[in-house]
Amino acid sequence: MSTVVLTGIGLLTTQTAEFGDLPNAAVLIDGDRIAWVGPAGSVPDADEQVDLGGRCVLPGFVDSHAHLVFAGDRSEEFAARMAGVPYSAGGIRTTVEATRAAGDEALTTRVAALTKEMRASGITTYEIKSGYGLTVHDEARSLQVAAQFTSETTFLGAHVVAPEYARTPADYVDLVCGDMLAACAPYARWIDVFCERGAFDADAARSVLLAGGRAGLGARVHANQLGPGRGVQLACEMGAASADHCTHLSAADIDALASSDTVATLLPGAEFSTRANYPDARRLLDAGVSVALATDCNPGTSYTTSMPFCIALAVREMGMTPNEAVHAATVGGAAALRRNDIGSITPGARADLVALDAPNPIHLAYRPGVPLVSAVWKDGLRVH
Ligand code: NIG
Ligand code: FE
Repeated sequence: MSTVVLTGIGLLTTQTAEFGDLPNAAVLIDGDRIAWVGPAGSVPDADEQVDLGGRCVLPGFVDSHAHLVFAGDRSEEFAARMAGVPYSAGGIRTTVEATRAAGDEALTTRVAALTKEMRASGITTYEIKSGYGLTVHDEARSLQVAAQFTSETTFLGAHVVAPEYARTPADYVDLVCGDMLAACAPYARWIDVFCERGAFDADAARSVLLAGGRAGLGARVHANQLGPGRGVQLACEMGAASADHCTHLSAADIDALASSDTVATLLPGAEFSTRANYPDARRLLDAGVSVALATDCNPGTSYTTSMPFCIALAVREMGMTPNEAVHAATVGGAAALRRNDIGSITPGARADLVALDAPNPIHLAYRPGVPLVSAVWKDGLRVH
C-alpha cells in the first residue's frame, strides 16, 4: 500500500480531544487510513507528498440524512411556498409518481450527479434513503440503486401512506412491515419512519421500527419536523441512532434526548426551503444532547447537497458557534450513523479529508455561498 503525506496544512482541525486544532501540521495517509498526525516539522517519509500551501484541513463531512433516489422536479411547489402556500407531508406523493415512472438507469444517473455534488461540498460519507417508491418493487429497486453508492442505506417505506392505501392506511403499515421489509432488508442497514401528522402516528411508527429491528435494521426517525409530537420520545424509547429534524421540541423531548444515545440530527435546509422556524440547537447543546447536521437533500423540502450551506445556516439561525457546527457535520454525523471510523482525523480513522481555501473552518459560515472546498480525499483517494 502506498503512503501520501499532506504537508503545508496551515490549520488541521482534527475534531478529536487528543489533537484538537494543530497549526502548521501534516497528515500521513497509508492506503485508506490515516497513519499519523502531527507538526509539519516531524513528518515521516512517504511515497508521495502533497503541499497544501497553508490551507486548513478538516474531516470529510458526514451527511447522515439524504433522500437521493427520486425523479422529477418540485421547483414550482417551492416557488408557490415562497408565495405563501404552506408545506404539507402530502407533497411527497408528487415525487412518488415521478419515481415510479422512472427507470433504474435514470434513478442511478440522478444519484450519481447528486453524490458528485456532495463530494464537491466536502461530504465523504452519505446516507441514502428510499421512500419515493412506496411499492415493494419500487422501494427494493430504490435501495438497490442506493447501495451502489453507499453502505449507509435506509429503508423508508414508511415515508407516507402510498396513494393506493389512502383509505386503508393500516394495511399499508402491514405491507411495510411484511413483504416490503422482506424485499428491502437485504439492501438496507437502517429503517426510518416519518412520524408526523399526515404521515404515521407513533403507534404505527413503533410497529415499523420493531419490524425493522427484527429484520436486523437499526432505527432512525423523522421526528417533530412540522409540529410537536411523539416522534422524538419514540426514537429515544426505541434506542434509535438518530431523531431527525427536532424542530418542535418540548422540555421533556430535550430531557429524553439528553439521557439517551439518540443523536438529534438537525436539517436546516428544510426550514430554509419551507420558510419555517429553525430548531433551537443552542438549547439542545446546552442540555448536553449530541447534535448532528445533515443536508436532508430531497426534492421537496431541502434540495441542497451543500454541507457548508447547512453549517452557515446553523451558525446564523440556530445559535451554534462555527466550531460546534463543524463538529456536528463531522463527529455528529458519524455518531448519528454509529460509526467511529469517520468524522475525525486521528490515526486509524478512514482517510476522509477536506482542504479549504481558507485559513480556518470558521470561513464556512463567515463566507456563505463561496465554494471554499478545494480538495477532498475519500478512503485516501483524491475524489475532488
Ligand atoms: O425530510 N419529512 C419527510 N421527508 C422529507 C420531505 C420529503 C418531501 O417533501 O418530498 C424531509 O423533509
Ligand atoms: Fe428527510
